[in-house]
Amino acid sequence: MNTNKKRLIQLGQNIDQVWLDSQIKKIIIKMESNMERFGYDFPSASATDGKYHIKQNDDWTNGFWTGMLALAYEYTGDSKFLHLIETNMVSFQKRLDEHFVLDHHDIGFLYSLSAGAAYKITRNNIYQATLLQAADVLLNRFQEKGNFIQAWGEYGDPNEYRVIIDSFINLPLLFAATEYSGKTIYKEVALKHFETLLKTVFRDDSSTYHTYYFDVKTGQPLYGSTHQGHSDTSTWARGQAWAILGIPLNESYIHSPVFPEMYPSVVEIFLKNLPEDFIPYWDFDYTDREPSDKDSSAAAIAACGFLEAAQQEVYPESEGLAKGLIYQLGEFYTNAAEDNEGLLQHGVYAFAEGKGIDEPNLWGDYFYFEALVRLANAKWNRYW
Ligand code: GLY
Repeated sequence: MNTNKKRLIQLGQNIDQVWLDSQIKKIIIKMESNMERFGYDFPSASATDGKYHIKQNDDWTNGFWTGMLALAYEYTGDSKFLHLIETNMVSFQKRLDEHFVLDHHDIGFLYSLSAGAAYKITRNNIYQATLLQAADVLLNRFQEKGNFIQAWGEYGDPNEYRVIIDSFINLPLLFAATEYSGKTIYKEVALKHFETLLKTVFRDDSSTYHTYYFDVKTGQPLYGSTHQGHSDTSTWARGQAWAILGIPLNESYIHSPVFPEMYPSVVEIFLKNLPEDFIPYWDFDYTDREPSDKDSSAAAIAACGFLEAAQQEVYPESEGLAKGLIYQLGEFYTNAAEDNEGLLQHGVYAFAEGKGIDEPNLWGDYFYFEALVRLANAKWNRYW
């Protein structure tokens, strides 16, 4: 084992139940105060000077807030969290019924963490019906030519005929829909998209493209390019992290022989590019010698991926690696002024657009919290 990996695993050994409980308690206190300000509205994707903007349910990120409420409810049993989840669900149902800002593929991010979480917690069939309705919306973006779910833009737009790596996390919604409805179409489409992603967004060395284009007439894969990374030839840190989480999440439904073969090299690329404190710069083009801003959310996402992989026993050191990342995040990336609303500091949303740089963001908050809950309670039933 290389020394870097050893050091990360050693850091993780500092985690015990007392440490986990103290981190989660800090989160609960922060969320209680955030809830008062957000009310029945939603926080923005990323913060500005540590404060989220309050807005309606109109982004790809709204589910993260509801998902955090679900984690808080499961940890505390406090009905105020459940009450707000139920209120959020009225908004998620309305958004579906009105098809409001849903012409994209992020239906999984939105509805696994809202309808999926609400159903797992309450077993109320209304939320299962919402999840199935959402799965139909995602299904409608499937392109036969190319076998993929189109990420963004108008359906069939040749300039948007592509997948993005983040879409790994939208597929569990479809697998869940097959489980709940017995209809195989959801799973079939998820499998096709999954296989297309595995064949396109990975370079030969298992580093990743953010997005990959297809020929609109023939469906032939064309070329990889970036959207939020530094360049078409670089590796966007969060993209690699989406793969580290997305592969085992989907494999938990599939159990394909591809997983044990390809996963270790995807992980190695991530580990190889971690700087001294193990929290990645937003793109792997940056290093401690040529630094830029860190993206803490990529570390939180990868930690959840390692914990998911640990359950499937594919990468032997994965639990230790997850603990190391979470320890570093908890010790060095969570401390901020009292009025800072983020659970996790120092993320990057979209560097080139100047969005959410060195700020908390909702997915960083959510995945940091999910990783803590996974570590604190091995029996926790994930929402994905
Ligand atoms: N899924 C969008 C992002 O990771 O920024």
